[in-house]
Amino acid sequence: MTDYIVNYNIYSNTEELADQFAILFKERVGKLLGEKENIFIALSGGVTPGLYLSRLSAREFLQDIIWKRIHFFWVDERMVPPTDQGSNYRAIKEVLINKIPIPEENIHRIKGEIVPQLEVKRYGNEIVNNVSKKHSSLPEFDWILLGMGKDGHTASIFPGTQFMEEYEGITAISRFPETGQIRITLTEAIINNAENVTFVIAGKDKAEIVHEILRGEKDKYPAGRINPTSGSLEFLIDKDAASLII
Ligand code: 6PG
Repeated sequence: MTDYIVNYNIYSNTEELADQFAILFKERVGKLLGEKENIFIALSGGVTPGLYLSRLSAREFLQDIIWKRIHFFWVDERMVPPTDQGSNYRAIKEVLINKIPIPEENIHRIKGEIVPQLEVKRYGNEIVNNVSKKHSSLPEFDWILLGMGKDGHTASIFPGTQFMEEYEGITAISRFPETGQIRITLTEAIINNAENVTFVIAGKDKAEIVHEILRGEKDKYPAGRINPTSGSLEFLIDKDAASLII
């Protein structure tokens, strides 16, 4: 029996994964808000978040979650206008933000329409000005939700590529290898400084790397290098993505 060193939960399908994520979100946010006035959560883009974030707008969550005390940041963004089909902000606005009573000032998007060299600093400063520092010199997000690409990337940290520019160890400019698209992303350091980090991964095309990472492969992939200094790390995966570990 292989030893898996990371905390993970497997779900039959993406519907069950989304339902269980919503229950976890309500519980964890409730606990965090019992400890502090406002909480700061960073959301990833891509396709998977659309599957699970939409569940939070269901009635039982809409009413029970104190949305005005939650601040949403983005883990990464494609440097396109906020109305662009590829915008992570646009996608999450559609499935979640437009459906919950969260104050506009609690939404801290990465401005994809701004020159990247200016936005990487502006967004980094927005994080510093809102997200408090606790155990280190870096701001500490309460919760960071990550996905994983089929090449093992996470956020916009891609295997084998260097950042074009980095700001204060908090944000960076990167380039999507397949298309050259410019991205702004949180760094590995700021993600590893978070209180809670959760990967939500679905699909057979992720199974091989999920298997390697859960068995402890830490260096081969950016997703494997996510290892919170003092925070929690967990994987919520569907049966397809878990097909090599069950
Ligand atoms: C992005 C994401 C990215 C995503 C992975 C997984 O901007 O694309 O932030 O890091 O999490 O690529 O994407 P899927 O959920 O679409 O597989």
